[in-house]
This record gives sequence, C-alpha cells and structure tokens, in this order.
Amino acid sequence: MESIRGKRLVIFGCGYVGTAVAREAQAKGIRVEALTRNPDRAAALVELGAAAVVADLATDTWHQRIAPGAEFVLNCVSSGGGGTAEYRRSYVGGMQSILGWAGRSAEGTFVYTSSTSVYPQTGGMVVDETAPTEGAGANGRILLEAEALLQKAGPACGRWFILRLAGIYGPGRHHLLDQILGGAAEMAGSGEQRLNLAHRDDIVAAIWAAFMSPAAGGNRIFNVADDAAATKSKVVEWLAAQVGRPPPRFSGGPASTRRGFAEPPDRLISNARIKVELGWRPEYPSFREGYRQILSGLAS
Ligand SMILES: NC(=O)c1ccc[n+]([C@@H]2O[C@H](COP(=O)([O-])OP(=O)(O)OC[C@H]3O[C@@H](n4cnc5c(N)ncnc54)[C@H](OP(=O)(O)O)[C@@H]3O)[C@@H](O)[C@H]2O)c1
Repeated sequence: MESIRGKRLVIFGCGYVGTAVAREAQAKGIRVEALTRNPDRAAALVELGAAAVVADLATDTWHQRIAPGAEFVLNCVSSGGGGTAEYRRSYVGGMQSILGWAGRSAEGTFVYTSSTSVYPQTGGMVVDETAPTEGAGANGRILLEAEALLQKAGPACGRWFILRLAGIYGPGRHHLLDQILGGAAEMAGSGEQRLNLAHRDDIVAAIWAAFMSPAAGGNRIFNVADDAAATKSKVVEWLAAQVGRPPPRFSGGPASTRRGFAEPPDRLISNARIKVELGWRPEYPSFREGYRQILSGLAS
C-alpha cells in the first residue's frame, strides 16, 4: 500500500458507507476530503483526521473548496427522506455538480455507489448486470439517470465504476435486529421474498477493489451483494434464535420498506462479475456471518 500514501480521496455524500471508506483511507495514509450536508457527520469525519466540507452537493458552492484532480473520487450520496424531488436533487443534481467540478481537471478513478433498485426483476429471477432496467421504480429511474450522467461524462472524470449495492447492513445499521430486540410481535408482509444484502465492510472492500484495479480496466458496472440471499422469514427466525426472543409472525399484508409499504421484489442478485473481474470476495458471505459480527460488537 506504500504507493498510495499521500494520494487524495474525495468522498461526496459521506455518510455510513463513506465514513467507513474514509476511516480505511486514513489508515492507508491517503488524504481524505469529505463532503456532507450533515454537520454531525462532518464533525465525526474531522475526528478521524479527514477534511470535511459541509455543503449541499447539488450546488456549486463547494467547488472552490475542494481542489479537483484527486486520484480517487467516491460519490456515495444517499437521500434518506424528503420525497422524489429531494431524492433527485441528491442523486442527479449531485452527480451533475460533481461532473461540473471534475470537468475542470482530469480525475483518477471515480466510483459511484448506485443500487440494485435499478432492476425491476422479481419472480425468483437471477439478476446480473446485463439484466434490463426498463420498468424500474421511480427511485430506481433516478439512480439510472445519475448512472447515465457518469457514463456519458467522458475522460474528464477519469475512469468510472458503478457499484450497484444490495441492502446495506452492518455495525450501527441493523433494522431487523432492532425490531426483534424491541419486542416486535408482528412484521408486515409474507416474509417469503429473498433479501439481498451486503455487509458494510464488504461494500468498502468492493470500493477499494475498484480503486486499486489495474489502470487498463474501468468503465464497468458491478453488482455488490453477498453469496446467499435468504427469505426475510429465515433471517428473522435465525436472528430471534440468536438473541433468545420469540420470532415475530408475518402479517401477510403489504411489507414495509424504507420508503413506505410495497411488495418487495423476490430475486437473486448475482455477484459473479465483480468476483471474476475485480477478485472481490465477501468476508460475510451470508447474513449469518454478518449478523454474528454485529452481535459480537453489541455484546462487547
Ligand atoms: N441503504 C441501503 O440499503 C442502500 C442500498 C443500495 C444502495 N445504497 C447506496 O449506498 C450508498 C451509501 O449509502 P449510505 O447508507 O452510506 O447513505 P447515508 O448514510 O444516508 O449517507 C449519505 C450522506 O449523503 C448526505 N447527503 C444527502 N444529500 C445530500 C446533498 N444534497 N448534499 C450533501 N450531502 C448530502 C447525507 O446527509 P444527511 O445525513 O443529512 O441525510 C448523508 O451524510 C448511497 O449511494 C446509496 O444510494 C444504499
């Protein structure tokens, strides 16, 4: 890792995943500059040794505060709430602003964390990166728009990688476990759709695999998911047993998602391409290994 000491990494929309990448970059001796609109997050980043910029990514107010020409750029912005307009502002407005900034000078490697929500497939299908994205939901279409902007940006922003992430979980983000520990007796939905998950640390490893891949490669889309999608009911049953609680029953009604109530898709997101092309392997191949790590963190 000696050769990357002193290089620059700029992280846009630095939240849960971005902060984990920043921590690892600092440990590798890379200089980190991170942008978020969240002042608490910015304060935590400064504690890690990163330079933090608090700004709205979708504006150009920050363009003079972060020098272009970084060896590594990560856009991992996410819009947790505020509806479609806010979602669009963070993803599409954010990407437009970054590309306007980057266009002033060539960047090195640009990684964008998109989502498997760009895929409309369900019905038990195996979904790889060649699967059609026509028919994606409203949020998926916004992410596709942001992806397309990066793909069309040309050499000014350097080479790019788009990582389509499955559902993120990890230390400090374990919604299902929280529900069980909170004594939930019932969960909405049938529980029979498979959850495609990716542990935070495996996502961080995938981002580094892209950054560090040979210079001749790039301009590729990769799914990032673990090896063993399991139904929600199976995950919940296992978790309840681990913490000695009765498993909540499933109502059979519409299931809750992060953004409301809907029937979640049932499919298997393939991670074969990133394994073959970038040599990535999940350290947490199924929810069991991932949640064991989380549970051991809670116990200590
Ligand atoms: N969550 C999932 O399961 C999931 C699944 C698939 C893909 N992804 C993708 O994974 C990536 C990382 O997600 P994450 O969980 O690390 O997200 P996160 O924790 O919500 O972090 C995103 C950060 O971006 C900031 N932000 C949002 N809009 C902004 C704007 N206009 N200007 C400046 N900062 C802005 C947020 O600030 P606030 O704290 O103020 O909101 C937050 O600090 C995202 O690209 C997301 O789309 C997530």
